[in-house]
Formats: sequence, C-alpha cells, structure tokens
Amino acid sequence: MNTAFDAATLANRATSALRAYDPGHDLPALRLRFGAVLSELGSNENPLGPSKLAMRAATRVLEDIWRYPDPLGASLKAKLSSELGVPVSGITLGNGSHELLMLMAQCFADAEHPVVHSQFGFAVFPIAAAAAGARSIAVPALPADHPDAPYGHDLPAIAAAVTDDTRLVYLANPNNPTGTWFTDAALEAFLSTIPAQTLVVVDEAYHEYVDAEGLSSGLHLLTRYPNLIVTRTFSKAYALAGLRIGYMLSHPSVAAVCERLRESFNVNGVALAAAEAALGDHEHRARVRETNRRDRAWLAGELTARGLRVLPSQTNFVLVDLGRDAAAFEAHLFERGVIVRPMGGYRLPHTVRVSVGSRAELERLLENLP
Ligand SMILES: Cc1ncc(COP(=O)(O)O)c(C=O)c1O
Repeated sequence: MNTAFDAATLANRATSALRAYDPGHDLPALRLRFGAVLSELGSNENPLGPSKLAMRAATRVLEDIWRYPDPLGASLKAKLSSELGVPVSGITLGNGSHELLMLMAQCFADAEHPVVHSQFGFAVFPIAAAAAGARSIAVPALPADHPDAPYGHDLPAIAAAVTDDTRLVYLANPNNPTGTWFTDAALEAFLSTIPAQTLVVVDEAYHEYVDAEGLSSGLHLLTRYPNLIVTRTFSKAYALAGLRIGYMLSHPSVAAVCERLRESFNVNGVALAAAEAALGDHEHRARVRETNRRDRAWLAGELTARGLRVLPSQTNFVLVDLGRDAAAFEAHLFERGVIVRPMGGYRLPHTVRVSVGSRAELERLLENLP
C-alpha cells in the first residue's frame, strides 16, 4: 500500500466534517463465540421476527432477482395509501428510513439554510445536515430529572431556535436513544409556531409500538401542515431490518423534489414484496405490539427492582441511567455474551440502551448484571 497517499485530504468540506458510522461490536464474530446464548440487545431488533406472510412473499420474489425492481414501488405505495389514507403522490420509499432522513437534508438544507434538532435526538440528524454542508443546531434537551421526558425534546426551545432561514427541523417521536415522546397536541402546538417555509420532519421509526395517552402520529396533521413530513420504517415492528426499507409521507411537492435525487432503484424487489405483505398482516403486528408492551414493562420493573433507573419509553428499548460511567457495566455484560449499547457517542456516557429482546435474552441480562 502507498502510505504517502491519503484520500482524507481530498474529501470535500462536508465529508471532512464527518466520522464513519460506529457499527458497535463485531456481531458475526460474537455469534460464533457465544452461539445460541448470545443476547443481542444493542440494535432494537424485533425478537419475534417478521410476519410469515412477509417471509413467503420475499421467498417468492427471489426468483426474479435478475430483474431490476419496480423503480416506483407502485404496488407497495398503493398498499400504504389504502392502509394509511394518504395519496400515493405523497409517499416516498427509502432504503431504510435512514436514507430518507439523509435525502431530505440533501434536497433542502445548505450552507445558508441550517437544520435544527434536539440534543440527544437520533444520531443521523446532524450527520444528514453535515453531509449537505448545512449547519446543525442542537437545542438543549429537557433535564435529566424531567418527570415525563428526561433528556427528551424541548419543543418550545426548539421552536425558539427556528428562524426564517431554518429549512429543516428533525424531531423523533418517540426518540432514539432516549425512548421519550411528545403528544399529538404538543406537536400541533409546535407546528402552529413554525414558519411555513421550514420543513418539520417527524421520525416515527417506533410508531407501531406507541400506546401512551395522547400519542398516535403526526399523520393526521399532514393535510393541515404541508411543511410536515413523517418518516417510518419496516426495520422495527415489522422486523425487516435486514432488507432495508422505510417510507416517508409528505406533501406531494416535497416527494416530487426528493424524486430528483432518489436513486432510481433504491429499494430492492425482495424488500418491496416483503413490506407489502407485512403491512397486510395485522394479526402479527398486534402480537408484536402486545409482546413488546408486556416485556418492556416487565424488563423495566425487573431493572428498577435491582436499583437501576429506567427511563420511560414508548419504543422497543429502554434507556438505563446508571448515574456513573457505563463502560465497566457494559464490559461486564459483554464478557458474558450480553450485548447492550453504551451511549457515549450521544454524550450520555452514564447510560446504556437495552432492546426489549426475547424473554430468554432478557433473563440472561438480569442473571448477568454486575
Ligand atoms: C429514530 C430512528 N430513526 C430512524 C432509524 C433508521 O432506521 P432504518 O434505516 O432501519 O429504517 C432508526 C434506527 O435505529 C431510529 O432509531
């Protein structure tokens, strides 16, 4: 290798400001090391797995992988349109919702038009801004001892940080990594104060898990607020994380702008077919939701009983505030094949995020706590 050559010096200004994604531990190696007793509680995956209908649809499509997929995803969009009551022209499909979050900044933000998000908001938000060469403003989160949403989004403070130049606001509801949420009424009050030329993205990756009072979705506000955008994913409750598919609901003109930059075949045919079948399996979705609700409450209760502080969550994970640096706690579990996610990258080094895995995985976590 020619060590004198270093392409890092050639990266454009936006890319120079970025660091590569930290994928966490080497999970394939850990699967070999620990086998069936590995407890993977670091990535917020769904331990029930996908709907059988989705699996069957995916398998059928394998015969056609020599063809390009439908670049419009028309069949899935029609299904989403009828399930959600939104026009097809307002639906954009993505290679995971991550891609859509990035796409919006690429299409709408730039050096003159900054992005606003919450401190401890989903990590992709500032990355999307930086990749678009835009400044991102992280608004201080609610305090750690807030009764409803510790470390959560402070919507009035976010609204106060928005100016006429702000082109994008990213909110996550519920948020990763905090698990916190805000109500539909709070979202509406927020939107009523935001300039019409500022796009507000509500990332609802965990939407299918929510059951708190006053919380459903931003979806019903789309017609009243054309600057509102809702993103969702098939990675979590639908358990199709490996296929990479998400969707965005917006005013048709927002979708039309995104079409200019979207890669023509960004979503593969297996993902399109599996997602469409998964949407139709209401029974599986209800089972996933109920199992998560039950096990999340059980896990929170067990951890609390052992003296740990578990933050309120409307997702398929909980954030545990240890009140001290989490490195030794995480390392202790890691050596015993229990993978949880330390949150130092979010500047929350005293916390770990724990997915609501299978009962067996969660029991191994409890048995192995330091
Ligand atoms: C809040 C939030 N948004 C978006 C995503 C991206 O999900 P995907 O790209 O798998 O759709 C995640 C994944 O962890 C998330 O937690």
